[in-house]
Amino acid sequence: MIEKQILKDCFKKFFGEAKPRFFTAPGRINIIGEHTDYNGGFVLPGAVDKAISMAIRPNNTQYVHLISIDHDNQPIFFEIGGPQPVEQWASYFYGVIEEMRKRGATVGGFDAVFGGDVPLGAGMSSSAALESCIGTALNALFDLKFPKTELAKIGQMTEHNYIGVRCGIMDQFASIFGQKGHVVRLDCRSLLYDLVPFKPKGIEIVLIDTMVKHLLASSEYNVRRAQCEEGVAVIKKYRPEVELLRDVTIEELEAHRGEIDPESFRRCAFVINENKRLMAACAAMEKGDFVEVGKQIYATHDGLSQEYGVSCAELDFIVDIARTHKAVLGARMMGGGFGGCVIALVKKEGVADYIADVKQKYMVKFDKDPRVIEVEISDGAREI
Ligand code: GLA
Repeated sequence: MIEKQILKDCFKKFFGEAKPRFFTAPGRINIIGEHTDYNGGFVLPGAVDKAISMAIRPNNTQYVHLISIDHDNQPIFFEIGGPQPVEQWASYFYGVIEEMRKRGATVGGFDAVFGGDVPLGAGMSSSAALESCIGTALNALFDLKFPKTELAKIGQMTEHNYIGVRCGIMDQFASIFGQKGHVVRLDCRSLLYDLVPFKPKGIEIVLIDTMVKHLLASSEYNVRRAQCEEGVAVIKKYRPEVELLRDVTIEELEAHRGEIDPESFRRCAFVINENKRLMAACAAMEKGDFVEVGKQIYATHDGLSQEYGVSCAELDFIVDIARTHKAVLGARMMGGGFGGCVIALVKKEGVADYIADVKQKYMVKFDKDPRVIEVEISDGAREI
């Protein structure tokens, strides 16, 4: 987390002596359950100790004045209810405010400085962290009384309506509801969740960032979502009550294979099987069987790569190396895909070896140094 003192000093420099309040919201990891959220399925994310933090104070005007520490203290100024700013990072603020206003809230103007240490483009949801931080801060600052679930939806709808990504709710939910030492087993349809203790003995979570971010990521994401909806539309003709892939079994999908475009069929099959893998992984976790959890994680990667088509050569390479290390129980690409990082569950004694091996071979193959990201599962959005 960026130090509070840095926010404090920066706030003072730009906005003077008056005391701001401080808020933070984390990025996330996801153990298993990828691309299931917008299909009404289950996910298993956890909030991490990398976050976006903010110093903020109402300014009693209709204007928002922002300073982004991570963009060289770039200032942005916009009017609440005015046109959307062109800078994407400012659009997160604009979007959250507009989504709150749509829900009947009165949001006043404010001054804010913000920055963070969620690695950008690593698939750890820096954007959800920002949305959750803004939502949590404005909720407190203007006493808006939005329940936490609504704050997560406000963040998600900011992505849909102001950024153009039709994302699910996993990232925002994890950023808001996360708890230290726990992963969130979330039913993305009902939004009911359990906090599951996650402290596997002698096993570490290792994140290795490919340092690749494909420009196609958000457009392809929306294509995947549309392909899932295409499958649902076919099944719905026979069973009108079906709303989401969550309601469809693999047998039912198979029975209508001939009516679904072959690529969309593979996408849908992946999602249905991914939900099953998550269930199997949760059952294994309950028994403390992380060898089985690891197997499911590897299978998820194969599915994401071969069936869902969201991996890339760099991600596949890092996972392939993992398979040659006995100490790595499971590894897979994490998040939306097309770059970002690999999450691996690794026995402590083998962590250094795996990392050294990946670094060396990745450099030879891609002429790039992958970034190793250390994370701990931490608390969700809050005032600090
Ligand atoms: C991105 C989206 C999430 C989720 C994942 C894939 O992170 O924001 O809603 O769909 O991709 O699981």
